[in-house]
This record gives sequence, structure tokens and C-alpha cells, in this order.
Amino acid sequence: MLNIAVLVSGGGTNLQALIDSERNGEIKNGKIVRVISSKADAYAIERAKKVGIPAVVVERKKYENSQQYDEAILSALEESKADLVVLAGFMSILGASVIRKYENKIINIHPALIPSFCGKGFYGLKVHEAALEKGVKVTGATVHFVNEIADDGAIILQECIKVNDDDTPQTLQRRVMENIEWKILPKAVSLFCEGKIEVVGSKTKIKE
Ligand code: GAR
Repeated sequence: MLNIAVLVSGGGTNLQALIDSERNGEIKNGKIVRVISSKADAYAIERAKKVGIPAVVVERKKYENSQQYDEAILSALEESKADLVVLAGFMSILGASVIRKYENKIINIHPALIPSFCGKGFYGLKVHEAALEKGVKVTGATVHFVNEIADDGAIILQECIKVNDDDTPQTLQRRVMENIEWKILPKAVSLFCEGKIEVVGSKTKIKE
């Protein structure tokens, strides 16, 4: 059974999807053992506490520099004996020391079809605002491994939906979450825990 640490910053609906999937037996061979929040007031912390998952807060502003912050994140991960790190709406930047230590063991959910609307400055609602501004006809979400470049690691799962003429950033965000994110994130986590994701160069192969 693999230990899963989930990193959050906000509402935590993706964390909730992971918790629900674990409870329903949809995450095979994995258990959420720790939630780490970059914000003390993140509602995601309440979601963890409700189901008895230990949650800790590691805020960037509490540390003098990014190196000390990375060390604090690393020690929280080591303490939890994490085998897999899931970024579920985590809005802080992880440093190279964390990423190297957990190479191909950190996965992120991004609310667009990478390589569109991703990278520095593209997070949360801003992603959907940019998609609507461009006038794309489809959008979606992507689960990928994390490397040292923002939203650049090997893609694991991706799905799309149609954009409606009357969509607002809020309606589009909600549909992408409900129809895609809350399904593909738990699915990717389960695939990882079952050892079914093979990284081949900068791509992945899913062994179904
Ligand atoms: C989700 O849409 C997630 O894909 C996005 O933030 C939202 C968090 O919602 N993540 C990013 O933009 C990361 N670049 P949640 O806290 O309710 O899961």
C-alpha cells in the first residue's frame, strides 16, 4: 500500500474527490496519509480533518527564503513517509530539491489541455479566463508529473469538454472540475499506486 501526501491551498474539491474515491475503493493500493496546506485558512484542511487525515500547514511566508521553505516541505513529506505526492490545487512553487527527491513521484492537476494555458501565471480561474479570451471551442484538464519547469512534466491523463457560448470563467471552471478533474485525478493516482504508469522519456505509457 502506497502512502499518498496531498498538497493543497484552497477549497480542496480535488482533495475531496480523492478522499471519496479512496473510501469507495477506487484508489487501489494507495492511502492518503497526510494533507499539507500552503494556506492556514484553506477549507481543504477541514475536509481532511472531517475524515481524520492529519493536516499540517507549511506557509511560504513563515520562512526566510525558499530553501528553508523547501526543507520544511521535505521534512513534512518525509515524516508522512510519502511514496506519492499529489498537488491538488496547490498554488505554491516547489523548489528543485523537492522535485529531485521525488522525481516522477509528484503529480499535478492543471485545469486546461497542456500545453495550452499553462506555465507561470496560469492557475485557478485565470486559466479559464484565458481560454474564454482566446475563444477556444474545447478545453479540459491534465494530470501530469511535475518537473522543474511549470506544467511541463510528462502527461498522464487528459480529457476535454466543449466550451459554451455563454460560459463565464466560473461556469467553465465548475464544468471542468465536475466532468474531468474529479475523475481523472483519482484515476491517475490509482494508476500510479498500481504501478501502471511507465515514464518513457518525456512521455508516459499507461499499462491497462
Ligand atoms: C482546480 O481547478 C485545479 O485544477 C487548479 O486549481 C483548482 C483548485 O480547486 N489548479 C491549478 O490551477 C494549478 N496550476 P480545489 O482546491 O477545489 O481542488
